[in-house]
Amino acid sequence: MIIAVDGPTASGKGTIAKALARHFGIPHLDTGLLYRAVGRQVDLNGGNPDDPADALAATAFPDSLLDDPALRSEATGGLASRVSVHPQVRAALLARQQDFANQPGGAVLDGRDIATVIAPHADAKLFVTASVAARALRRFMEMRSRGEDVTREAIEADLAARDERDAARAVAPLRQAEGAAKLDTSAMSPEIAIAAAIALVEKQV
Ligand code: C5P
Repeated sequence: MIIAVDGPTASGKGTIAKALARHFGIPHLDTGLLYRAVGRQVDLNGGNPDDPADALAATAFPDSLLDDPALRSEATGGLASRVSVHPQVRAALLARQQDFANQPGGAVLDGRDIATVIAPHADAKLFVTASVAARALRRFMEMRSRGEDVTREAIEADLAARDERDAARAVAPLRQAEGAAKLDTSAMSPEIAIAAAIALVEKQV
C-alpha cells in the first residue's frame, strides 16, 4: 500500500504521515528532509541556492547529513524552498523517492508533489492543510519551546512567502491532486487529525 501525504509546511502532514506509517506498519519518508539536505549542503559548499548548478551539485550530499539537527531550522527550510524550484534538483531526487515508494509492502511519503509527481499511482492520497495563522502559531510554539527568539508575525510572513514560492513554481507546484482527500487541521488536535487521516485512508483503499 502506497500512501501519499502532501501539504504546506506546519500543516501537520509530517505528524500524520508518521502516525499512518505506524498504524499500517509500513516505512515512512519525509521528502522535505531531502530538499532541506540540499539547501544545507549548498550553504556548506558556499554556493548560491538560486543558482541551478550550485543547487544540483548539492544533491550529492552525504547520507549522514540527513541526521543533522540544523536541517530542522527555519533558515534551512527557506534554503530548501529555494533549491526546490530547480527542475534539475527535483529530477536528481526523483529516483530515490520513487524507489522508496515502490518498495515491496508499500510506504508512506510526505511532501509537496507525492500524489502529483512521485507516486500518482498511490493507493491513498491526502492533502493536509491548515490556515496560515494556525500553522504560524504551531511553528511559533515549537520554536519558542526550543528557546529560539522569534515573533509570530515574522513566522507568518515567512510561511506565506514559502507557500507562495511552493505554489507558484513552474515544476511540481504544491496543489491538491485529483482524487486526494483534503484534511484541514486548523482546528484539530494532533490526535483528532491522525484519527481523521486514518479514516480517510481506509475509505480510499
Ligand atoms: O516540508 P518541509 O518544510 O520540510 O519542506 C521544505 C521545502 O522543501 C518546502 O518548502 C518545499 O519547497 C520543498 N519540498 C518540495 N517537494 C517536496 C518536499 C519539500 O519542493 N516533496
